[in-house]
Amino acid sequence: MTLIEELSAIVGAAFASEGIESTYGEVRSSDRPDLAQFQCNGALAASRVAKRNPRDIGDAVARRLHENDLFLKVSVAGPGFINLDLTDAFLSERLNCLVGDTHHGGWSKPEAERIVIDYGGPNVAKPLHVGHLRAAIIGECLKRLFRFVGDEVVGDVHLGDWGLPMGQLISELRRERPDLVYFDASFEGPYPQDSVVTLEDLERLYPKASAACKADPERADEARRATAELQEGRPGYRALWQRFIEVSRVAIEHEYADLGVTFDLWKGESDADPLIPEMADGLREKGLTVKSDGAEIVRVAREDDKKEIPPLILFKRDGSVLYGTTDLATIVDRVRSNAPGRILYVVDQRQALHFEQVFRVADMAGIFSADRLEHIGFGTMNGKDGKPFKTREGGALRLRDLIDLVNKRARERLEESGLAKGYGPGETADVAHKVGIAALKFADLSNLRTTDYIFDLDRFMAFEGKTGPYLLYACVRARSVLKKAETAGAGTAGPIRINQSEERDLALTLLAFAEAVRDAYERRQPHIISDHAFSLAQTFSKFYAACRITDEADPLVRASRLTFTGTVARQLETALSLLGIDIPVRM
Ligand code: ARG
Repeated sequence: MTLIEELSAIVGAAFASEGIESTYGEVRSSDRPDLAQFQCNGALAASRVAKRNPRDIGDAVARRLHENDLFLKVSVAGPGFINLDLTDAFLSERLNCLVGDTHHGGWSKPEAERIVIDYGGPNVAKPLHVGHLRAAIIGECLKRLFRFVGDEVVGDVHLGDWGLPMGQLISELRRERPDLVYFDASFEGPYPQDSVVTLEDLERLYPKASAACKADPERADEARRATAELQEGRPGYRALWQRFIEVSRVAIEHEYADLGVTFDLWKGESDADPLIPEMADGLREKGLTVKSDGAEIVRVAREDDKKEIPPLILFKRDGSVLYGTTDLATIVDRVRSNAPGRILYVVDQRQALHFEQVFRVADMAGIFSADRLEHIGFGTMNGKDGKPFKTREGGALRLRDLIDLVNKRARERLEESGLAKGYGPGETADVAHKVGIAALKFADLSNLRTTDYIFDLDRFMAFEGKTGPYLLYACVRARSVLKKAETAGAGTAGPIRINQSEERDLALTLLAFAEAVRDAYERRQPHIISDHAFSLAQTFSKFYAACRITDEADPLVRASRLTFTGTVARQLETALSLLGIDIPVRM
């Protein structure tokens, strides 16, 4: 139970004793920490239902709460706001429990669920670009958060490895190197194991093919035929396509690794393909499909829709499948392979309509209940002009180039700040990389997921303010205090004692972690963890400035402050690791 839940239960019981529903006793952290630690505003809403003056209700509830010795102060302000302060004894006792907690004060769910998170969506032969950044960063964070609270989570990259781009590639390579054995229809195999194409080949062939298909309808037809033959299983094409996937995957995996992002499953859209005929039969049996202009579609619109939801196209007139078809079949695959209780899609907000269609069909067909399918949408990362971030040439910035840019800037910032001085080249590069990625990820994850934000590297990279580098620095500092204490023989950590306001604030902040984790989990909002990490770092910084630690004369106070410091270090590390941020040992 979080502290807020516990207090809400106590205040709720006091409301109940007044004959008012206990839900009005909901407590939250105070908006005015200078006046009180916690507050309950329920008396105002309750007054309408109970037909009693809110101030009366507030006073009556406060009188009951006074009897509880965990409150140092209970007061009623204005028309009936109940303000609450806890005793230091209670806070210390709670914090002493937190100190030994393997979750470092985090929250766990009472019942675990099995979850699939789909948060990659890279496409074969196309380099990762900034558009893939947010899915990776947010998805990795949610995966870690769900695991932390106790869920069993499978992260799937869901590679874009099916459809027209594959046929475009095959036909382009065929034009360039018609002699390759993959194109010889009479060849009976086995096909060579080593790759005939490099990543450079793919990255060159794909834009060339796609431009050619746009310009020339005949060329586009050729690509379509190749796609159809691939999907029908032509052995040479299948073998070649496997090579494309292998080559792409190595590169993609490497870039994700640089971002500290990993996947448990490397399935692709193609894995769902064999399930399509059976799935389509199921839809037909249920009478859900209709023919329209030669295509086969599923109507999903409902009477109460506020905007028009167009039908999902299952098969085009030529029989080929679309994005929605593969996503639907992928759900069938996931049900069979992973038996999830819930599936989350961390994908750009602009695909909301697509997911609405897919979820409706899945629900109507009894494949998966729509309330267990969640599109976790997000806004775009924009340039300073407010438009989706582009290179100076107007193209999408490659992730690889973005990471290089960030690393370079981090190195400059370290030099300017006189940090990471005198380290070997390996360690300097490692610290710079960690600082750079922390800057990028923290900036992303400190925004409300659904809003757009502006890429401003100088701001992200500052060592002061609400930034990744500031938080890394706070962690490293807390660690170094502990190390210094150890070297100085300053004794060991001991029970928490609260003597000063900075200690009290730190105790309250550490105890608020549970609520932050719960809230972030329930709302699928990483920024709540970012906010907590930042407020913990700030509160620690004030404590550090005001309280002697290693050189405190009183051994009991010193031991308590060492415990404070160690607990902050561990909780901050936990919060950052939930955000997917790695911390250097020193900087
Ligand atoms: N490959 C897709 C794209 O580039 C994203 C896939 C997202 N995941 C999904 N299950 N649709 O837009």
